[in-house]
Amino acid sequence: LRREAPVRYDNSRNCWDVFAYDDVHRVLKDSLTFSSVRGTAAGQNLLFMDPPKHTQMRDLVNKAFTPRAIQELAPRIQSITEDLLEQVSGQEMDLVSDFATPMPVIVIAELLGAPTEDRSLFKKWSDILVESAENATDEAFQKITEKRMHAMQELAQYFKNIIEIRSKHPQDDLISALLIAEINGEKLTDRELISFCILLLAAGNETTTNLITNGVRILAEQPSVQTELYRNLDAIPSFIEEVLRYYPPIVAIGRIATKDTEIGSQTVKAGEQVISWVGAANRDESKFSEPDKFNLLRKPNPHMSFGFGIHFCLGAPLARLEGKIALQVLLERYEEIKLVSDRPLIPIPSSFVFGVKNYPI
Ligand code: HEM
Repeated sequence: LRREAPVRYDNSRNCWDVFAYDDVHRVLKDSLTFSSVRGTAAGQNLLFMDPPKHTQMRDLVNKAFTPRAIQELAPRIQSITEDLLEQVSGQEMDLVSDFATPMPVIVIAELLGAPTEDRSLFKKWSDILVESAENATDEAFQKITEKRMHAMQELAQYFKNIIEIRSKHPQDDLISALLIAEINGEKLTDRELISFCILLLAAGNETTTNLITNGVRILAEQPSVQTELYRNLDAIPSFIEEVLRYYPPIVAIGRIATKDTEIGSQTVKAGEQVISWVGAANRDESKFSEPDKFNLLRKPNPHMSFGFGIHFCLGAPLARLEGKIALQVLLERYEEIKLVSDRPLIPIPSSFVFGVKNYPI
């Protein structure tokens, strides 16, 4: 499609699909022409805001989400990783459920300021929120929607309590930092703060789970890459970037055109939906040499798996750090990593997410 129909309208889904690197780049860069705003319910959520509201909110949360604050989490992430792997030491494990799912959930919950003893609550809520309703029957869809709404209410209530406690007794955590952060004398409202906490859980968990799983999947599928990485552990950050390019956890990003415009040789009308296929752009041969080859030391690697422009992933430094520590600890603990099942892998049932449900190693 990238070669034959780089920009095409799909009548069955009522949207434009954009596949080539330069076109995807342009759509993500031009936030005036391609809006992120969707419906009114999503209006409190950074991901679905346009400037000037987006700029104000993003500046505010950036203050608390600095690379330095994230780097300080490294020892904690390391110990969470080691604890989880210790529990399945010496045995076969399902990488997804035993390690790659709980790890980022626990990290975000503790970053926000939730006490360690509430870990299992966060795991339960995040599983419900990411449960896919795609391809579900009407009845199943209704059940999933009800469960999600219930989980959202429980989560909102949970954060309300933490916010109340932290506003009286600040601690060294993200919620306390967000409570005092100000832009032009304005702070976040409690509602905005709660919805930001929920966004972090929704945006940061399944994506990081899939980054870790997709990375281990590369090692199992391409033994020569595994050997090369064992010999050169310093290449782990470069390996993580190439995993992001080659098997991106999010393969597509949606926008709405705000005015009539051209992409490639096609005319997109105001109000039409535009899907940017990052997964296809990351394999564009005009940007990457031998794009279908996994190149451990690829440089430069301007993949767009964290998006591009004003909505560039806020959690990218955290995801990169978690990916690096996960791989480091796995490679230190095990002499070799192998997939131990010949059953077909079950993909996560979503057109926007790339990952598998289980990965026994
Ligand atoms: C935005 C991918 C991890 C929080 C985004 C976007 C992408 C993305 C593609 C842009 C969406 C758009 O333009 O509409 C990923 C991937 C991750 C990851 C692949 C893991 C490998 C995280 C983590 C967090 C996080 C760990 C937080 C703890 C966010 C937030 C936004 C965002 C808050 C919205 C930023 C904005 O709208 O200004 N992410 N993400 N993400 N991500 Fe991530």
